[in-house]
Amino acid sequence: MAESNDSSSTAETQKSFGEPGLSTVLAREVARRRTFAIISHPDAGKTTLTEKLLLYGGAIHLAGAVKSKTKTKATTSDWMEIEKQRGISVTSSVLQFEYKGYCINLLDTPGHKDFSEDTYRTLTAADAAVMLIDAAKGVEAQTRKLFEVCRMRGIPIFTFVNKLDRPGRDPIELLDEIEKVLGIRSCPMTWPIGTGDRFKGVYDREKKEILFFQTEGQANVSGRLKPKKVGQLQELGSEFDEETLQSVELVELAGDPFDHERVLRGELTPVFFGSAMNNFGVEHFLERFIELAPPPVGRKTSDSHLAEKKLIEPTSTKFSAFFFKIQANMDPSHRDRVAFMRVCSGKFTRGMTVKHVRLGKDVKLAMPVNFFGQERTVIEEAWPGDIVGVLDTSGDLRIGDTLAQGGGFEFEGVPQFSPEHFASVTILDPMKRKQLQKGLDQLSEEGVIQVYRQRDLSDKDPVLGAVGALQFEVLKHRLLSEYSVNVNIEKLSYTCARWVEGENFDVDGCERREGNRCLVDRDANLVVLFKSDWALRWAEDNHKGFRFLKTPLARRRN
Ligand code: G4P
Repeated sequence: MAESNDSSSTAETQKSFGEPGLSTVLAREVARRRTFAIISHPDAGKTTLTEKLLLYGGAIHLAGAVKSKTKTKATTSDWMEIEKQRGISVTSSVLQFEYKGYCINLLDTPGHKDFSEDTYRTLTAADAAVMLIDAAKGVEAQTRKLFEVCRMRGIPIFTFVNKLDRPGRDPIELLDEIEKVLGIRSCPMTWPIGTGDRFKGVYDREKKEILFFQTEGQANVSGRLKPKKVGQLQELGSEFDEETLQSVELVELAGDPFDHERVLRGELTPVFFGSAMNNFGVEHFLERFIELAPPPVGRKTSDSHLAEKKLIEPTSTKFSAFFFKIQANMDPSHRDRVAFMRVCSGKFTRGMTVKHVRLGKDVKLAMPVNFFGQERTVIEEAWPGDIVGVLDTSGDLRIGDTLAQGGGFEFEGVPQFSPEHFASVTILDPMKRKQLQKGLDQLSEEGVIQVYRQRDLSDKDPVLGAVGALQFEVLKHRLLSEYSVNVNIEKLSYTCARWVEGENFDVDGCERREGNRCLVDRDANLVVLFKSDWALRWAEDNHKGFRFLKTPLARRRN
């Protein structure tokens, strides 16, 4: 059911002659927005691709997301030392740029080996994803995990196969792997002609033209030579070797035809080939991407208030947004907490007062900011698809919270994701127990770690869970530098956590087997920690009528 909280007042439209009303401007701003994230495995070339994309947009904002290889970039808080030491980017951030009249929001998802739940959560704010694959390596582990999250949301996924200038795998084999491993059909939009030192360029299947490869050194930044138009494939013989010709013909005959509706439903991924480092195929990709990727679409509300879920359309003139990321202490001299929200409908204006739905109170958004490294830019206005940082001085904001003009609904929750690493935490100075508590609470709100407590809700011996093992290091460092608590963190041998769905679960029976542990999460939901896949399967087989879930929806917390 589409929400029609469109109070686009007649007064508004009639306000003054010659000046478009809010509805008109809103529709225009929504239509030109593209909000997406790049998903990839480390080293596939995400930083390189991001840099090239920004070149085309003449990036108006550089959110400190493009990691500095030379490590010269100033860090904005103590714990970012970890990033500096390792030359990695732990935080996610947002880059906004304009390209050919479109306003593009690129949400950065950290691509290092150990990534956090925060990376997953960022995907809940994206309307599309670009899956970047190294032509020599194919679909790698982290890409698969991030892909699953996109799949869960049903967002369109565009594929860019990178590093064609290096010897890579057979493109047919790569497409086959994408389809088999990820379970999504693919439709190559371009086709590579050779790889490595025999890489000549790509054939644009739609326009039937060849984009010739030239390395960035030889070409200017736009890096694109005038394509050569071709007619019949046979005429391409001089450009194509026999093998390429055959595979193009095979794809024409046997491949899935391009179908925009299927792309938008996340059932078909358009595939492009290129070389980010050589800036080859990137602009071509960007041009097609802005045409084919969706503008912000309606977002579902939670069903906790209503029998039927509603969709809040982005063109609704009442402002609404939800928080998907919280970052505390970005600047140690301020010791502040910034909550990032994704605008879902209406126009955001600095200083506006909106309803914080969970707390049922009005909040004034006086200092909305964009964060770019050490720089903060105050935002005057934003539109659906945009990301806005809000300084949370009261500590009231939580991930999943909804802000809405007039209130009345909450957006569907941001899920918690199943951790794969577990640890115990021991405090070295028992006098600091309270600070530890506060630190764990706040850092789990940010998604750095998850905290599981005893079933009697006591704070004794909590177990920590993390999506990436590096998060424990980040936690230890931050507990010390921000909360002055020194802790020992010891890895535990659990390998997965599952939320139990169903009433009257036999907790004791479950704990008697295979070293399983039954604890509760921050919302008092029952969570079982397992030491092996085998133990999990045993529990599934022996607790009929219960479901062991990977990603429960966050429940309402008051
Ligand atoms: P990431 O953010 O996904 O981790 O990858 P990043 O862009 O840092 O790229 C990883 C490595 O792959 C870099 O090399 C980068 O230059 C290289 N690379 C990216 N795109 C291409 C491409 O199209 N072709 C080739 N041949 N290489 C590519 P590095 O040696 O780790 O770093 P650097 O010294 O080149 O900066």
